[in-house]
Amino acid sequence: MLDLRQVSKTYRVGAFGGRRLHAVRGVDFSVRPGEVVSLIGESGSGKSTIGKMVLRLISASSGTIAFEGADIAGLRGHARTKEYYSRVQGVFQDPFSCFNPIFPADRVFELVRAEYAGAVSQAHWRARVEDALTTVGLDPAQVLGKFPHQLSGGQLQRLLIARALLLDIRMLVADEIISMLDASTRIDVLNLLGDLKARGLGILFITHDLSLGNYISDTAVILRRGRVVERGATSAAFSAPAHPYTRRLLASVPQLHTSWQQADARLAQEGEGECPGCAAGGRPGEHGPVDLADDHAVGCYTAA
Ligand SMILES: Nc1ncnc2c1ncn2[C@@H]1O[C@H](COP(=O)(O)OP(=O)(O)O)[C@@H](O)[C@H]1O
Ligand SMILES: [Mg+2]
Repeated sequence: MLDLRQVSKTYRVGAFGGRRLHAVRGVDFSVRPGEVVSLIGESGSGKSTIGKMVLRLISASSGTIAFEGADIAGLRGHARTKEYYSRVQGVFQDPFSCFNPIFPADRVFELVRAEYAGAVSQAHWRARVEDALTTVGLDPAQVLGKFPHQLSGGQLQRLLIARALLLDIRMLVADEIISMLDASTRIDVLNLLGDLKARGLGILFITHDLSLGNYISDTAVILRRGRVVERGATSAAFSAPAHPYTRRLLASVPQLHTSWQQADARLAQEGEGECPGCAAGGRPGEHGPVDLADDHAVGCYTAA
C-alpha cells in the first residue's frame, strides 16, 4: 500500500544555508493494509521528517514514496491532492495545536464536510460524525459543541482520529500521539489503533519509545541518524536484534532501560563488530540493509 524506496531528505542549514543536514538517508520500508509499522528512533533520528514526507507536507530530496502504486510526488492539482488526503491522514503529538481555541472542537468535522462531503444531508452527516465518535470511544453527547479547553488531550486526540475516519482513510500516520497522554488514556488510544488495524487500515506508528513500538506493531523499523539500522517483524527485531545498536538498546529487555545515548556510547567504546554488508564488499553507509531472513534486515554497522 505504502512503499518507500531509497528515500532521503537533506535540509540546508546554517548561515546562508551553507551546510547540509542529512535528516533521512536511503530509507526503505513498506506498510500493508491491516499492518502497524512502528518507526522507532531517538529524538532527531528523522522520524517526523519521514512522516511529513508521507503526508506530502515536505518533499523528499531523493527516492520515491508510492501509495497504492502511484508515486506521490506525481500528484498534481487540487483534485488529486484532495483524493490523496481522503486516503492518507496524519495525527500528531500535540492535539491542542490542531484546534482553534475560539471555535467548538467539532468544527474540525465541519471543515471535512465542506471539503469532501458537501452534498451529504445534515442528518446523514450527523449520523456519520456520531458513528466516527463512537468508533474512537467518545460519547457524542459529551464532546459535540465543546470548546477545546473543555476537553482532555486524550479526547482531542481521539477527535482527530475520528476526523480521519470520516474520510474513510486507508492509512494513518500517527506521530508520537501517545507521548502527551496520561497513562490511563494511553491504553485507550493504543487499543483504538488496534481496532483501526482490524478494520484494515495501515498505520505508521512513530515513536521514540521502544516499549510502545514493541507493544503495538507487526513490523518495526529502527532508525539511527536518518538510516534504517534494523527492519523486520517486531517479534524478530525485538527478540533477536541483529544490529549492534539495536542489541545495545534492547540489552535490558524487558525493562528497556538503556537509553539511546547509552547505546551510542557503548558502541563507541566497544566497536560495532563486522558489518555483514561491508564484509560482502559494500561501501560503509552506502550499501542497503542486508536480508537476514524473509522478514528481517539489518542496516550498515559502520554508517557515519
Ligand atoms: N525544517 C528543518 N530544517 C532544518 N533541519 C530540520 C528541519 N526539520 C527537521 N530538521 C532536522 O532533521 C533531523 C531529523 O528531525 P526529525 O525528523 O524531526 O526527527 P525526530 O522526529 O526523529 O525527532 C534533526 O536533526 C532536525 O533538527
Ligand atoms: Mg518527531
